[in-house]
Amino acid sequence: MAKATAIAPANIAFVKYWGAKDLERAIPLHPSISMTLDRCCSHSTVAFDEGSVDDAAKGAGQDSITLVDEAGAPAPTPPGFDRRIRRHLDLLRQWAGKEGSFRVATRNSFPAAAGMASSASGFSALTLAATKAMGIDLSEKESSILARRSGSGSAARSVLGGYVEWPAPGQAVDDESCHAVSLAPASHWPLADVVALVETGPKEVSSLDGHRRAGTSPHFAARLELVPGRLAQVREAIQEKDVEKLGVVLEEDAIELHLVAMSSRPPIFYWKPASLTVLEAVRRWREEGIHAYSTMDAGANVHVICPLEESPAVAERLAALPGVDGVIEDRVGDGPRFVGEDLF
Ligand code: PMV
Repeated sequence: MAKATAIAPANIAFVKYWGAKDLERAIPLHPSISMTLDRCCSHSTVAFDEGSVDDAAKGAGQDSITLVDEAGAPAPTPPGFDRRIRRHLDLLRQWAGKEGSFRVATRNSFPAAAGMASSASGFSALTLAATKAMGIDLSEKESSILARRSGSGSAARSVLGGYVEWPAPGQAVDDESCHAVSLAPASHWPLADVVALVETGPKEVSSLDGHRRAGTSPHFAARLELVPGRLAQVREAIQEKDVEKLGVVLEEDAIELHLVAMSSRPPIFYWKPASLTVLEAVRRWREEGIHAYSTMDAGANVHVICPLEESPAVAERLAALPGVDGVIEDRVGDGPRFVGEDLF
């Protein structure tokens, strides 16, 4: 039996993925750009027992999956967790042309109850550890394609460090070639992501449902027209390390994602009153000379992007706002790695 352990980070998008051409395999309707994080990670150990069963279907039935907490004890799993992981393990086994069963233990470094999206880091870590356990060393391109096929498109970006675009500019968007590419390494520009936690429960509508409903919003077509210009501006801002140029676009794009969500049928409201408190405060702080800009994923928590040196001041201010239950200070990171710290 072979075993491998990988740690993969979450990422925060500056131009968001919202709406899919093929939801099962997460082929997006437009490109997105993100920053890979450092502290918010999933840690996954996978063992593969090759040939312990005589066909792939039996193998799938024998896979064992546990989510563990910081102390190593079994933790409650979010809805769909087990089903989505089993499906992905099956896909990896078939891709590798192997027969056998997996044992998986996985843990998130950020609080499971914090309502932070863990699918990007989770599927990225799982893809890397499971293929390594089967004896396969993936290229970056293969890792990104396989992580994407989990159905969590943002996982395609988490297999790379630093600043990432998915799919690559000018790339044909089909299953074989739809993968992320690096725009710049983390060392290029030290930016922080200070997360204001305003909701600790699981979100009511999954991002999968959000992608599914996106096209029903009358504003979705307008968004598709605006995205190419935004991608160009974000690429330029990253290259020039211009936080103001980046910030204006990333705020605009996040608000627009939520505009599309709120006007989908049926509508999706991810915001909570405290989300708005944070959005307003960050705008006010800019008038005082702080270079902070807000973005939000499919949830109520607000990610505040700022230069790394301003992160402690931003974190202190966020923690003092009413309705903010906690703050995570994260920053741009180098991407996934294999480690020797096995979870079993
Ligand atoms: O990867 P998914 O299917 O969980 O979708 C991610 C959706 C957003 O987080 C809202 C945007 C993004 O690009 O990360």
